[in-house]
Amino acid sequence: MEQKPKIMQLNERELVQSIQSGNISICIIGIGRIGLPTALSFANSGLPTVGVDINSKLIEMINSKIFPLKDEPGYDVIFEKVTNDKFNVTTKIQDVVPNSDVIILSLPTPMNENNIPDYSTLLSVGRQLGELLNKDSLVIVESTVEPGFIENDLINAIENSQKKLVAGKDFAIGVCPETANPGQIMNDFEKLPRLDGAIDEKTTNTIMKIYKHVFTVDLIPMPNCKTANAVKLTTNVFRDLNIAFVNELAILFEKVGIDIMTVLEAAKMKYNFQVHYAGPGVGGPCLPVNSYQMINLAKNMGLTLKIVETGRIINESMPEHVINLLQDAFDELGKSLANSNVLVLGISYKPDVKDIQITPAQIIIEKLRKLQANVLIYDPYFKSTEVFGLQTESNLVEALQKVDALILVTAHKEFHDLDPTFLKSKMKNPIVIDSKCIIDQQASKNVGLVYRGLGRGKI
Ligand SMILES: NC(=O)c1ccc[n+]([C@@H]2O[C@H](COP(=O)([O-])OP(=O)(O)OC[C@H]3O[C@@H](n4cnc5c(N)ncnc54)[C@H](O)[C@@H]3O)[C@@H](O)[C@H]2O)c1
Repeated sequence: MEQKPKIMQLNERELVQSIQSGNISICIIGIGRIGLPTALSFANSGLPTVGVDINSKLIEMINSKIFPLKDEPGYDVIFEKVTNDKFNVTTKIQDVVPNSDVIILSLPTPMNENNIPDYSTLLSVGRQLGELLNKDSLVIVESTVEPGFIENDLINAIENSQKKLVAGKDFAIGVCPETANPGQIMNDFEKLPRLDGAIDEKTTNTIMKIYKHVFTVDLIPMPNCKTANAVKLTTNVFRDLNIAFVNELAILFEKVGIDIMTVLEAAKMKYNFQVHYAGPGVGGPCLPVNSYQMINLAKNMGLTLKIVETGRIINESMPEHVINLLQDAFDELGKSLANSNVLVLGISYKPDVKDIQITPAQIIIEKLRKLQANVLIYDPYFKSTEVFGLQTESNLVEALQKVDALILVTAHKEFHDLDPTFLKSKMKNPIVIDSKCIIDQQASKNVGLVYRGLGRGKI
């Protein structure tokens, strides 16, 4: 039988034809929060796609046609449509990579307990690719990595295997860093421009053609992988830093008696002000990690990123500040925080998603326990389950009836309508700590709640 030409051997016309006729086979390694929607998008565009993941439970779930990402609107429908047809999954990387034209890596890039980026998963999969890749296939890294990691580390891991493949000669490699926001991935996949950097121009163009077919968004060509990764990190470090800035102002304004929300709502009317909001800390798998990736890159170059490091210190101090607000409220009532019941409202690191990676709620809970408070958790995404060693509440009203104080940590939609009169009527003691400033402060005062808002002076 005549062998199908390899993707990197195709000329531009053949490449377009192959894409349009669904003749390019895709393998996505890591089908988690980002990888699964990515795989479904590829499959939905007509390209045969296989997802590979070491999580056998996830693979079983998908094979049983259960959609795992319930908080990602839109993908359940695509999942129904493409699964078992254009989209299949397996735990066996060795069965898929040798038969794929394009291998996309959507693997986790966390950091260790000392805030050092941990690229071990990418490197170990890189070594596997070195044994499994077909000649003239294309590897695309979507994971967030620090600039230079592809050039200095991942390519080495792939090349230093038995097959002795050489990047740019035997296989192509590039990056398309992912910028989607959990909870709205479909929207972002349809709207946000994507960055495309690669080992050479031909690879950049090949990635552009494939991604343009799948996502129909603007693609921004970058001169190389490290520049594309630098853009991705720059946007997230910018956000981490701006949140640190408003967090610092929030603490100042509390003392001066100024409401940070009033300031920010007015400030954002100015054409060159980009609003960020204060909060109990910055969590998730991206922002904190991305700042440390940039800090790590600088350290390796013999530099210190003073402003980024300071931003991290401020954001990491916010859980302690929230606890101070709580202590202050207890002091006002002349009551002891120890042995009191405190309800944490929301544990996700951001609103309206089921995700507790690096969430500030965990630190707040640990601090409360150290102060011997009894902690209760209510989160609409984590009802009646065990989180941080605690059994979560299933009903908000019943939870409120049991507690002396609440700390609103995550601004889930369900909490936006919390009415101070309702809270006062349910809670044993009336302490409300609002770390996201979504509860009406004046109304809280009027009904007799002891209210503390992060960044809000007392009224
Ligand atoms: N979640 C986000 O908000 C977001 C946004 C943009 C970029 N990113 C980046 O995308 C990448 C993936 O993040 P995510 O949130 O999808 O992570 P995730 O943890 O949700 O998914 C990663 C998947 O990889 C699988 N995996 C781990 N080791 C493996 C291996 N050796 N072989 C095969 N599969 C393996 C895991 O089982 C998991 O299903 C990270 O670099 C992250 O920084 C994430």
